Amino acid sequence: MTITLSSPLDMHIHFRQDAMLDLVAPLSALHFAGGVIMPNLIPPVNSVDRLLWYRGEIDRALAGAAFEPYMTLFFRDYSEEELIAAKPHIIGIKLYPAGATTNSDSGVREITAMNHVFAMMEHHGIPLLVHGETHGFVMDREREFCEVYRYLATTFPRLQITMEHITTADAVSLLDEFENLRATVTPHHLMITLDDVVGGLMNPHLFCKPIAKRPEDREALLQAALRAHPKLMLGSDSAPHPLDKKECPGCAAGVFTAPIQLPLLADLFDRHDSLHNLQAFVSDNARRLYGVQPPERIVTLERSPMTIPDSYGPVVPMWAGRTIPWSVVS
Ligand code: NCD
Ligand code: ZN
Repeated sequence: MTITLSSPLDMHIHFRQDAMLDLVAPLSALHFAGGVIMPNLIPPVNSVDRLLWYRGEIDRALAGAAFEPYMTLFFRDYSEEELIAAKPHIIGIKLYPAGATTNSDSGVREITAMNHVFAMMEHHGIPLLVHGETHGFVMDREREFCEVYRYLATTFPRLQITMEHITTADAVSLLDEFENLRATVTPHHLMITLDDVVGGLMNPHLFCKPIAKRPEDREALLQAALRAHPKLMLGSDSAPHPLDKKECPGCAAGVFTAPIQLPLLADLFDRHDSLHNLQAFVSDNARRLYGVQPPERIVTLERSPMTIPDSYGPVVPMWAGRTIPWSVVS
């Protein structure tokens, strides 16, 4: 049994910089034709100059691979001149609430104080990508943030807003409520709940923001993905951290999945008799929603087992050492 995918896209990835970039960018390029690159470096990618520098670093790390990095800027109080200068180089601007996740200290403190920037982005057709969590109780952060999504979607009806890495049934239902909301979802949030993170022995390699939620949330996400809901895209949120930042007190948030996403998804869609919807979920929806035309790449998967490596350099992937039923045909 095999399945062939045309130009898979990962619409939310962390490539980092320096040695980590050199390690992980080629791993994404093995199976993907492109992806949306997150700007939460230290310092953040929040100027056109820094964006062009980062793009150069990524191109160097990709070493000619047929992978299109769709760049993002880190949201701040940009002027209209800055937005106009950035537009040709970016797919959107990523908003982090201050302190919500890894390297987000310089994020936004008060959403409505940025209305003039949202209005300019709407006017210039620049999508807004959002890490949607409040500072409330950890399990309620995304649900509480849905009020902010409603506010943004109604106040700026022509602003295209991507709810990044959704983890709740509440966020899934927003997709059908507002024309200008779409979302990414990670493979791990389709497969795990909080029980997998802390229900037994604690697993730091499954700890990420937003934290995995309840079985009913996972079920809502899974059903939307399996039917390739037209406003839902694969975004792995593959977020590498070195082993010593994960297996320690104060474990960093982030799950590394870049090299195993497609086998994980093929298995998941196969088990639910939904392989016919995988192409839309991993590429077609993103192409349509963002109007992108990635390089032509054909990736073939087969139902033959692979064992997930214990590590990639200093990074431990999700489910290291586990054998899964599908693999990419090299
Ligand atoms: C991401 C990271 O490590 O940069 N971590 C995570 O848990 N997902 C940041 C993010 O997307 O929240
Ligand atoms: Zn992320």
